[in-house]
Amino acid sequence: MHASLLAPSILAGDHAHLAASASIVEQLGLKWLHLDIMDGHFVPNLSFGPQTVAALRKNTQLFFDVHLMLSEPHRYIEAFAKAGANLISIHIEPAYDHTATLAHIRELGCQPGIVLNPGTPASAIEHLLDRVDLVLVMTVQPGFGGQSFCRDQLEKISRLSALRIQRGLSFRLEVDGGIDLATGADCRTAGADTFVAGTSFFNAGDRQAYAAAIARW
Ligand code: DX5
Ligand code: ZN
Repeated sequence: MHASLLAPSILAGDHAHLAASASIVEQLGLKWLHLDIMDGHFVPNLSFGPQTVAALRKNTQLFFDVHLMLSEPHRYIEAFAKAGANLISIHIEPAYDHTATLAHIRELGCQPGIVLNPGTPASAIEHLLDRVDLVLVMTVQPGFGGQSFCRDQLEKISRLSALRIQRGLSFRLEVDGGIDLATGADCRTAGADTFVAGTSFFNAGDRQAYAAAIARW
């Protein structure tokens, strides 16, 4: 299993000062930043686009973990790669050529990731596991920060963790939504290694202690 890694979600940062929010993450010595892209169609909310990602890229060295919540992600891969994404993850639920889009992400020099909504079974992505660097299990219905963790996703995390071992694969297993020190620890036990945290990270009284706790998992 990979070492545990915290990826703060800038969705919960200060949208008038996103560079300052990224800098909080970087100054703690963390390596990853999670960026949530929403199209108001696949999810009932809008966030920001490639122009914002490119502007942030000029202000930080953090690894950009870009989570596309889009109905037609294949149309925007190139724009996000150019904007400075390091990893681009796409959802399995909408109908488009997932295999070709994952390959395209890699051709553009980014790591490809695949994402499942809470209602989507692990079997939906089993055929793609050897093509991705990351599997993201949504632990809330995507679209908004600050929601409660869905405990019924723990079984799916265990299943994907077991498949990873069985097949000798090394993709990261990421969880996103309602993650805090308690729910994240349960995901770690189930086999997750990469923890997206928006609300709980930016609202933490002592972010250094918060990050240190996850580093010890
Ligand atoms: C939800 C997003 C998450 C969100 C998590 O649609 O994908 O990344 O920022 O926020 P919290 O940690 O507040 O649940
Ligand atoms: Zn996300």
